[in-house]
Amino acid sequence: MSLTRAAITSVGRFLPKRILTNKDLEGIIDTSDEWIVQRTGIRSRHCLEPGLGNSYMASRAAKDCLKRVGVLPSEIDTIIVGTISPDMFFPSTACLVQKMIRANNAWGFDLSAGCSGFLFALTTGTMFIESGRYKKVLVIGSDVNTIYLTPEDRSTYVLFGDGAGAVLLEPSVDPDLGIIDFEKRIDGVGEPYLQVKGGGSRRPATLETVKNNEHFVYQDGKTVFKYAVKNMADVAVAMMERNNLQNSDLDLFVPHQANLRIIEACAKRMDLDISKVIINIDKYANTTCGTIPLCLYDAVDQGRLKKGDRVIIASFGAGFSWGGVYLRWAMNST
Ligand code: ACO
Repeated sequence: MSLTRAAITSVGRFLPKRILTNKDLEGIIDTSDEWIVQRTGIRSRHCLEPGLGNSYMASRAAKDCLKRVGVLPSEIDTIIVGTISPDMFFPSTACLVQKMIRANNAWGFDLSAGCSGFLFALTTGTMFIESGRYKKVLVIGSDVNTIYLTPEDRSTYVLFGDGAGAVLLEPSVDPDLGIIDFEKRIDGVGEPYLQVKGGGSRRPATLETVKNNEHFVYQDGKTVFKYAVKNMADVAVAMMERNNLQNSDLDLFVPHQANLRIIEACAKRMDLDISKVIINIDKYANTTCGTIPLCLYDAVDQGRLKKGDRVIIASFGAGFSWGGVYLRWAMNST
């Protein structure tokens, strides 16, 4: 029996209008454009206006994605939102998006896996399509990271931005194209190195947690850096070996955008020419679950993806969590 393959058939995005450049940050914290560019490759980031919430961005990315391919919201059967910054603990962001876009026949849920949330959601949606039970799965990666930042921690303050991307998964019409292979991993060893400590059931919000800055992201940047390079590169190489791919066969590598130096170190470990890597961290910073769909959007927009192209995606995030996807691009060039 032949497998129903899942394929990405549309890509959409939403970026908040407000842009903060490194120069703008110089007025808020003790930093410089030069330090940020040299250490991270970031030049600017988008920031959502306070009070709007994740579903505002996620629903707009979803609408953009569906409009591009002419699919009605009522045709969607599943919505998965990869996120670390839901509007609230419950209901899920997926429920809010369902209402906002009027996807009246959908079920769905949020998926929390740090910056790997989109990749885990993409591969979960893939299995739903492969099972034959679902036909149109909307996978969204959306995060309002600026809520987690305090000017008291300048090394983290400069790293993140807000943004959302969405893809539509459908059964592939060509069995050779679509999502071919993936691997996902978690290791709780990462807990102390990258976390938002307060606000959950272990440390619910109190005056003390607020005073201790426990509702902001904490990270041990150097440790996260090392794990990110090793695990993203290893999983990408594993995907290539398992699928008998040489570097020359690969058309595009889509890595999570956490730091330009992490991306370059990954490419080096993979022995891959940097021209085959999509990089947009300079414009958007780290949008956590947004990075990979925003990269796919830019790749399509810039004409860097054509039907049949061989693509490896790799992610790394809190947990630790990481994963890789091998796909052959199924969309026609626009
Ligand atoms: N501006 C100016 N100077 C700064 C800043 C800043 N914004 N931040 C830190 N510095 C200073 C430090 O105080 C330090 O000064 P000192 O030497 O006088 O003590 C110096 O710069 C070097 O600091 P380091 O922390 O050693 O800098 P490093 O080269 O490690 O870069 C960084 C820090 C950018 C955070 C890096 O470690 C990193 O990117 N790590 C990975 C982070 C990451 O990817 N996180 C997200 C993971 S994905 C997810 O799930 C969320």
